[in-house]
Amino acid sequence: MKRIIIIYTLLLSGSFLNADIEAGKAVYKANCAICHTVNGGSALGPDFNIVAYTRHKEEIADYAKDPYKYNKAFGYSANAMPTLPLTDKEFEDVADYISSLQPFKKWMIKKR
Ligand code: HEC
Repeated sequence: MKRIIIIYTLLLSGSFLNADIEAGKAVYKANCAICHTVNGGSALGPDFNIVAYTRHKEEIADYAKDPYKYNKAFGYSANAMPTLPLTDKEFEDVADYISSLQPFKKWMIKKR
């Protein structure tokens, strides 16, 4: 019985996780995609697969919520990313989505 409960809990938490990633993908498309690519590409901001390689989910959410506050700590000399008017849930979801991406280092991305 105990085992069944554990498996059931794992399944449930798994489906919640996916829901957040799916919601986060929608947040990405609507709010980030004009400046950030996925799977390599060039845009104003860094590609999110590279971000997935170098940052934890919490760091991604913190930066997205307040880029002005964190840009120096992240190694930038200036801040060009706007502070976006999203809810905390949307920031958490988009951070989940970015963390779920295949992590790339710059040299791993194929030239197109
Ligand atoms: C108008 C363009 C623009 C938009 C829209 C934008 N960003 Fe950015 N982002 C940037 C730029 C440029 C940087 C580089 C640092 C800076 O200028 O603040 C950056 C940096 C970041 C970083 C730090 C990356 C790192 O590891 O160094 C994260 C995380 C990030 N953006 C997340 C997001 C998320 C999530 C969204 C959407 C909710 C978003 N950005 C929307 C332009 C943008």
